[in-house]
Amino acid sequence: SLTEEQKQIIKSTAPVLKENGKEITSIFYKQLFKAHPELLNMFNQTNQKIGTQPLALANTVYFAAENIDNLGVLMPQIQHIAHKHRALMVQPEHYPIVGKYLLHAIKEFLAEKATSEILDAWSDTYNIIASIFIDIEKNLYDKFNQDPRDKGFNSFTIVKKEKIANGPIISFKLERTNGGKMYNYHPGQYLTLHVKKGNYYHNRHYSLTQPFDGRSYCIAIKQENDRQPKGIISNEIINNYRIGDKISASFPAGTFSLIKDAKHHLFIASGVGITAFSSLIQTLYKKGKSNIVTLIHCVPSQGHAAFASQMRSILNSNQYHLLLQGRYLLQNLINDIIKQDTHVYICGSTSFMNKVQDYLIECNHPMSHIHTEAFRPSLSLIKN
Ligand code: HEM
Repeated sequence: SLTEEQKQIIKSTAPVLKENGKEITSIFYKQLFKAHPELLNMFNQTNQKIGTQPLALANTVYFAAENIDNLGVLMPQIQHIAHKHRALMVQPEHYPIVGKYLLHAIKEFLAEKATSEILDAWSDTYNIIASIFIDIEKNLYDKFNQDPRDKGFNSFTIVKKEKIANGPIISFKLERTNGGKMYNYHPGQYLTLHVKKGNYYHNRHYSLTQPFDGRSYCIAIKQENDRQPKGIISNEIINNYRIGDKISASFPAGTFSLIKDAKHHLFIASGVGITAFSSLIQTLYKKGKSNIVTLIHCVPSQGHAAFASQMRSILNSNQYHLLLQGRYLLQNLINDIIKQDTHVYICGSTSFMNKVQDYLIECNHPMSHIHTEAFRPSLSLIKN
């Protein structure tokens, strides 16, 4: 553990590093990839380009440093990251490599201010956090490592591919290529696809859209504008993968889930964000609890509403609201629907999620009752 003196050092240097997190982590990634180009197969180059991933790593180390006496408060975030690491096949031996280059980057950034006391304190902090991740991830891997054939990424075959909404949004149904175990998952989890394009593999996470049927995994992917870097892998899968083709994936992961015993669930999605909720809503229906569900789905037109027919068969018209436009309509609707003990789940673009969250906070809705599923690295944006 850290000495009192080291904690002081961490507390006094964290703000400087945090303020310059972007600069430090860009030094870090440059040197990391130069020494270990094989890791380019693991990191999302689009998030690198946009700058969200570098910040996520740095922010976590700073949050952890600030809370070093009470890491329990960070457990939900730590679990979320560990699940993602496991889905990406991050291994214990990767931690010293990342630690080495993070330390290098801090040293280079602080230049003559980098005393050995400061560097040691950060190195020790990193090692504490790394060992927590390694332990949690080991537990997660253990579930899948019973059978050596299940290690690493596995081959799946596309057994169904169809357009389910304008956008277009395309759904894929996958089964294991050579038989073998299909692992169960809880609704809210995602599947991580591992796709080669150009010289590297790319990993992308997609929500599992149906409750587990014992045989298959279903996801839905939205085609993006080709000019936007964020869609290159989604578009690659939509354009070049057909029924009968094989595709690599790891087994389901993720911590997003239903709040047990909630009295009322309000799901608010925009566009393809509905994919994070459809299995949750179907699961509540199977348990005979669809009467305590309300769904608001914001879409540009009726045709964009994926899963509309399933939702209509589960929910009646005052539980299922398709909202074609308008911020004020959305606010009014939320106002009408929400009760003090409603658990609200939000999924959509960053700006949509921030907007809805700000509105809920304005209404004094308790933070403990607001749950978000972001299709981007969490902790990548600091909200003051
Ligand atoms: C993702 C933190 C070590 C590889 C992330 C995220 C965070 C994070 C916050 C974003 C999670 C999200 O998407 O919501 C950390 C911390 C580490 C650590 C604090 C050390 C203590 C490692 C190591 C590797 C690694 C050792 C492997 C070399 C990745 C990858 C992603 C990721 C590939 C996904 C990035 C992307 O594709 O955008 N990590 N991580 N991490 N981490 Fe780590």
